[in-house]
Amino acid sequence: MKILSIVGARPNFMKLAPVMDALATHGVDQLLIHTGQHYDANMSKVFFDELGLPKPDLYLGVGSASHARQTAAVMTALEDVLAEHRPNLVLVAGDVNSTMAAALVAAKACIPLAHIEAGLRSFDRTMPEEVNRVVVDHLSDLLFVTEESGTRNLLEEGIAKDRIHVVGNCMVDSLKRHLDRALEAAPWEAFELNPRQYALLTLHRPSNVDDPAALRQMLETLGELSQQLPILFPVHPRTRSRIADSGLELPATLQLCGPQPYLIFLGLMARARLVLTDSGGIQEETTALDVPCLTLRWNTERPVTVEQGSNRLVGTDPKAIHEGCQAILAGNWPSARQPPLWDGKAGQRIAATIEQWASDTSASR
Ligand code: UD1
Repeated sequence: MKILSIVGARPNFMKLAPVMDALATHGVDQLLIHTGQHYDANMSKVFFDELGLPKPDLYLGVGSASHARQTAAVMTALEDVLAEHRPNLVLVAGDVNSTMAAALVAAKACIPLAHIEAGLRSFDRTMPEEVNRVVVDHLSDLLFVTEESGTRNLLEEGIAKDRIHVVGNCMVDSLKRHLDRALEAAPWEAFELNPRQYALLTLHRPSNVDDPAALRQMLETLGELSQQLPILFPVHPRTRSRIADSGLELPATLQLCGPQPYLIFLGLMARARLVLTDSGGIQEETTALDVPCLTLRWNTERPVTVEQGSNRLVGTDPKAIHEGCQAILAGNWPSARQPPLWDGKAGQRIAATIEQWASDTSASR
């Protein structure tokens, strides 16, 4: 069996690594294609090195562009690749533009498609990721689900039950595998911070950073908080350019740095007093680490992190953000319960499911 996996953007890497690893132990012939959606060394290459991902067999180099152009560039390049290699299965993860582009090309080439992290829904179609999720799930033959809400959403959308496989969370596989190493490096020291005495902030959603007024208000609120607790802010390139474009003055108390490598960021997250974020994946990672998380969005496609985990939605409301922080600092925050199957073995379950699927498909031919 030949499987072609596609990655493109930072959050893809930690999801694919454990699956590729597990597939290797099943003796599967694997090809890895990097679309080049993320291309800065610290948004891409460093993750390959740290996660032990194999060097991509092919790099498409699509880079940054509008949604349509970026999606089209991946599709155009990938069509030839799939025609040449004719894999038995295409494997994609998450909800970025590269994921959706690859899914469309595989489906049109009549190549079976598997989606890691299927079924998540924010029910907010203004998020580009939500559009990507819906499209990819409806084109997929194998849907690997991380939490119970995923199964419910897929069934409600009419997706056949026998395509849905609850396997747990591959990102948590990577986290468990690398946490000790991340903590040994004590990455907070380089920022002159002490464990549990700082907050970690990430911000990159278009809804938060593309509107200068919204961005200004958010940074003012966070600036006030940083007078009470140091806030370390690794700035995503998109956010950095929005800040530069809008001419905003950043509060001097926010401690800025560039995007961090996987191990450093994991260590910083694990020893933060609290995390403020608009990322999807970080909501899950903080639940896995049992670190309080305030999500700077009004919705989440990962409800299990709120229902069972350490995550709460505070949106962009200064009062709610402030109150959330005070509750955490007062120790008034529930401990996270671990969602079912977030046990570090999702990659193995996916590999076993794919093997079973391959033998069923060849038997029915
Ligand atoms: C993408 C994903 C988002 C994910 C995020 C993680 C989509 C629709 N969005 O958003 O779901 O949470 O990645 O980072 O796919 N840039 C660089 N260097 C890079 C990559 C990007 O400078 O290596 C800059 C470019 O100016 C680019 C901007 O960041 O235009 C945005 O990059 P893009 O990949 O379009 O979207 P993200 O905001 O990173």
